[in-house]
Amino acid sequence: MHVSATPSGGPTYLAIPGPSVMPAAVLQAMHRPSPNIYEGELIEMMPGLVADLKAVARTDHHVAIYIGNGHAAWEGALANTLAPGDHVLVPATGRFAHGWADMAEGMGITTQVLDFGKTDPWDMDQIAEALRADTTHQIKAVLAVHVDTSTSIRNDVPALRALLDELGHPALLMADCIASLGCDRFEMDAWGVDVMVTGCQKGLMVPPGVSFVFFNDRAQVARAAMPRVSRYWDWMPRATPDEFYQYWCGTAPTQHIYGLRVALDIIKAEGMGAIWTRHERLARAIWAACDAWATDGPLRMNVADPAHRSCAVTSLRLIPPQATELRRWVETQLGLTLGIGLGMAPPGDPAWHGFFRFGHMGHVNGQMIMGMLGGVEAGLTALDIPHGRGALEAAAQVIAQG
Ligand SMILES: Cc1ncc(COP(=O)(O)O)c(C=O)c1O
Repeated sequence: MHVSATPSGGPTYLAIPGPSVMPAAVLQAMHRPSPNIYEGELIEMMPGLVADLKAVARTDHHVAIYIGNGHAAWEGALANTLAPGDHVLVPATGRFAHGWADMAEGMGITTQVLDFGKTDPWDMDQIAEALRADTTHQIKAVLAVHVDTSTSIRNDVPALRALLDELGHPALLMADCIASLGCDRFEMDAWGVDVMVTGCQKGLMVPPGVSFVFFNDRAQVARAAMPRVSRYWDWMPRATPDEFYQYWCGTAPTQHIYGLRVALDIIKAEGMGAIWTRHERLARAIWAACDAWATDGPLRMNVADPAHRSCAVTSLRLIPPQATELRRWVETQLGLTLGIGLGMAPPGDPAWHGFFRFGHMGHVNGQMIMGMLGGVEAGLTALDIPHGRGALEAAAQVIAQG
């Protein structure tokens, strides 16, 4: 077994944008002998678990759970609503919209991708143009990534709903909240989202392996009109099971259920409003530090306008290969692991070494963020990467405001 060495004593800190830091209570709850899957506690836990998941998604509608990662949720959402030959519109602001579009293509769905690059959010005018041009309503769904984890762009989902309504376009609004749920504000019902996909390994603070497709009655109408949905992906038995095994289409992910139960208890105790506020404050502390560093040196945040930044992840750039050197230094010297730059430059291209990311999602607090920022400050100093002064003071100011 490989156990990563802690360079200087004390715990390591994985500050990548998922999987996120797992609360000890979640891990402890998972560390148990296999429970009975035919009767008893596990079965009794499910109604409460489903109710609490819906509360996190801010929906009164339905949820289907899949043993799988975010890709499984992507496929689950598509498999229930779109048949081969159907069309979808995919506004892209980074890697993950392309990923979802690729999954759709693999299922025989035709995708129209609007690529808005890697630094700016959706251009609503261009989306409006594409929807207006679709006079016969061929577009059956819009695949909308709320927070793109590669670029750290946060897109305006309510504005997209408003646009669909204004144009009277019936396409389903499907949101990818894999990076944002439990971090950035998201309100499925209030925002008029028809389908929402997410995974357990980021804001939900559970090791990867379970993912979720939330859907409303409009999406259910689309499901009912499908000529065929494969048994495994069908969300109906999962969302309205008569028997426990139907939640999972087979054996349950037993230990994950216990972990998820504790994670949802932690979320419930803090409250969604407080969780969003915490993520926002910690993100602002990070941005304040980055602004200070940027006053005298090459470090830049990828998204210039704070209004379009996620509170869960921050994508950054330096001069290649400084980003890789910085990541290596803080990891080997301090036990702090930062995220690689994803999808910003092809691997193998020297430019790849100019990008990196901070993950700040889920089980994070002020002392962790101050520690991470202090580690980066030390790394910039050790590597002689020019940077402005006062970053930690600036971050502390934000955190001190409470
Ligand atoms: C926004 C977003 N969508 C989809 C995915 C794919 O999820 P997974 O890697 O769990 O399959 C990720 C993973 O990081 C993501 O951040």
